[in-house]
Amino acid sequence: MTKILEINKNSPEEDKINQAAEVLKSGGTVVFPTETVYGLGANALDENAVKKIFAAKGRPSDNPLIIHIWDIGQASGLVSEIPGALHTLAEAFWPGPLTLVMKKSPKVPELVTAGLDTVGIRMPDHTIALALLKETGVPVAAPSANISGSPSPTRAEHVIKDMNGKVDIIIDGGDCIVGLESTVLDITGDTPVILRPGGITAEQIQEVLGKIAVDKHVYGKFDAQGVRPKSPGVKYRHYSPKAEVILVEGPVDQIAGEILRQARDFEAGGKKVGILATDQTKDWYPCGIVISAGDRNNPQTIAANIFKLLRQFDETGVDVILAEGIDKKGIGMAIMNRMIRAAGYNVIKLDKQQEE
Ligand code: TXA
Ligand code: MG
Repeated sequence: MTKILEINKNSPEEDKINQAAEVLKSGGTVVFPTETVYGLGANALDENAVKKIFAAKGRPSDNPLIIHIWDIGQASGLVSEIPGALHTLAEAFWPGPLTLVMKKSPKVPELVTAGLDTVGIRMPDHTIALALLKETGVPVAAPSANISGSPSPTRAEHVIKDMNGKVDIIIDGGDCIVGLESTVLDITGDTPVILRPGGITAEQIQEVLGKIAVDKHVYGKFDAQGVRPKSPGVKYRHYSPKAEVILVEGPVDQIAGEILRQARDFEAGGKKVGILATDQTKDWYPCGIVISAGDRNNPQTIAANIFKLLRQFDETGVDVILAEGIDKKGIGMAIMNRMIRAAGYNVIKLDKQQEE
């Protein structure tokens, strides 16, 4: 039985936070809201508790989990080396959507890090998450609270759909503001590397650290057999709705022309078509079910909607979703990374000069 606890994020009720913390302390699972997406949490230092996370999600055991903390002091107990960049980055971005990958301490179970010698740690910027972590007192491992492969949940109803009956508690704390996951940054080497773009942009990190690199799997496909990528999550089909997704990149008027042509073809073939447009283009399409993801000039609005809309399209029963690409600057890098994966690398590029 899963208990659903509604908590007010403006002033989290102490008795409810205590209830959820008790469940975590005794080896149970609690889904909680963060500023990015909902997380499925368990005591990171309790291997049996962590096993329940993998079971509930149907997650492959070679994909490591992020550990959530509420106080920077907890980080030093989880790593074997403290990189110089930790304090600079924590000062600038914690609490916030940035996960730092560092050398792990032997205290962290292998199951959490999927056998890697590194561990990802972040401090979420959410009143409920922070209150829960503080009350629990132990570091909490938490992946996004979706069934493995589905779009990440940004509201409680998504979590209830995927996780009801599979976890002990689901906290309903309203919509997640950022809407896509944290940036995963590897700071074990001389040059920090973005393994997964997310809520904190490459430009923001660069401003604080100077030189950074972006892992080639951010837009590319991982297909080398027998080679282990640095961030194992890149291997898997991800963020995918049930419908086929086709992503179209290029200048916006060419994108719209191509999507319209494809939409008509699909409809002529008897398919139900969804079009993921933007505020600027949503009125250009005379066919299909058209939904705007947000404002091209304010991509944060698109980030906040993207996972919710992929789920919404599935509810309309469309067979195919034709999605407009956006500029890869700022948070656009994370949005396009998720879209490319949602599309299973099914991407049409209309203007070669736009390629990264
Ligand atoms: O915003 C977020 O990060 C959310 C919320 C709940 O905090 N969590 C989240 O977790 O997105 P998950 O498990 O869905 O994604 C974690 C990603 C995966 O791609 C995983 O491969 C990568 O982080 N990761 C975790 N630990 C790592 C490590 N030690 N080295 C490299 N990549 C790591
Ligand atoms: Mg996930």
